[in-house]
Amino acid sequence: GAAAMPAGALAGRTVLVTAGPTVEPIDAVRYISNYSSGKMGYSIAEAAAAAGARVVLVSGPVSLPAPAGVQVVPVKTARDMLAAASEVFPVADAAIFSAAVADLRPANPADRKLKKGRDDAALANVPLTENPDILATLAATKRPGQYVVGFAAETNDVLMNAHAKLVKKNADMIVANQVGDGLAFGTDNNEVWLVTEGDDVLLPLMSKRDVAQRLVEVVAAHLG
Ligand code: CTP
Ligand code: CA
Repeated sequence: GAAAMPAGALAGRTVLVTAGPTVEPIDAVRYISNYSSGKMGYSIAEAAAAAGARVVLVSGPVSLPAPAGVQVVPVKTARDMLAAASEVFPVADAAIFSAAVADLRPANPADRKLKKGRDDAALANVPLTENPDILATLAATKRPGQYVVGFAAETNDVLMNAHAKLVKKNADMIVANQVGDGLAFGTDNNEVWLVTEGDDVLLPLMSKRDVAQRLVEVVAAHLG
């Protein structure tokens, strides 16, 4: 809880947080997205700001208010999110990538509404192309002293997949949780593993606000 962390543990620090889903247009009125509520990332941004950090929250569309003292940069697509996060990452002391980025996007979005009858073939076959990996792209440019946290939402083999992501994405920590079956997405509570090159630490089921608080403490401790 808050008592464990001295006030201002992140004073003078800049923290980048990505949050929420991305939305990827199919046409002028339709999109591909996912069930992310943004609650985890918004709680992290709020906790980091409460600890004294300057916080930039790059957020996909969510129905949450901007946390107090946090600069929110609203984005829609993964490519927008990468562009916005790229502006901040070079000056960030810590970056926490909690967004649920759409892995794929329609390759050729129509700028008008596709219509039944006239556009049946296009509606029935939406070619997809891969989005950039925002975490991997930015963590590849990580400087000494910068601390990078990613998330891993897994339905199975949670720890094995999280360790693979830690290495592949050049993160310092992966916050891993099991998803599916009513878990994690949109809920207020979360049970997560903190996965690093050291021992895996299981945080018991707690509110996303408390997970955020613990994460901010860990990040502050690493920044020293
Ligand atoms: N991530 C990202 N950009 C992407 C995909 C993922 O920044 N295009 C980040 C997420 O914000 C998260 C981490 O990478 O911090 C892991 O996301 P996840 O979806 O669990 O992993 P993927 O690498 O996309 O693999 P998969 O979805 O196949 O499990
Ligand atoms: Ca993914």
